[in-house]
Amino acid sequence: MKYRNSKIAALLAALLLAACGRQVDSPQGFRLPDGDPVAGREAFVTMGCVQCHTVVGDSLPEPEIPRSLHVQLGGETHRVKTYAQLVTSIIHPSHAIKDKNVADYEDPSGKSLMPDLTPYLTVKQLVDITQYLQPHYKVVFPEYTRDGLYYQ
Ligand code: HEC
Repeated sequence: MKYRNSKIAALLAALLLAACGRQVDSPQGFRLPDGDPVAGREAFVTMGCVQCHTVVGDSLPEPEIPRSLHVQLGGETHRVKTYAQLVTSIIHPSHAIKDKNVADYEDPSGKSLMPDLTPYLTVKQLVDITQYLQPHYKVVFPEYTRDGLYYQ
């Protein structure tokens, strides 16, 4: 009987895992090809990302028109910065807003202030920019206080 129960448990676990893997919106298996970080840095400048962004640990050229919006990219973040999240935040900004409810990041309807750049970026530029940005992100775990709340 005991043997049978553990067999059933193993079967259930396997089914559960298989079901998770098959979810249509799962990021599992998502991977762009390796890019060229030097070309990515260049595209970051020429495609106007510098108009709103600086990158921690890199001194990029300043934009020609002074910034009216400044969002720093990279550095320590308390949000898990997975590969999939990084790509999503470039091509689908409103899905992955850096911090909700920050006036500099979203409009009153909750849409990201980052424009949709997908009509202008080539796939190669996206691949290269992702490769350039990723090493600039560091994942930091939240610190917990004694009463269990964490601060950032
Ligand atoms: C007009 C301003 C503007 C431009 C141009 C712009 N962004 Fe953004 N970007 C934002 C704003 C505002 C946010 C914060 C809100 C959000 O997360 O969507 C943001 C967020 C991001 C984030 C997520 C940051 C995080 O740590 O969660 C990434 C990555 C990013 N931008 C990359 C780019 C790249 C690459 C380009 C150029 C192809 C670009 N952005 C061009 C305004 C801009």
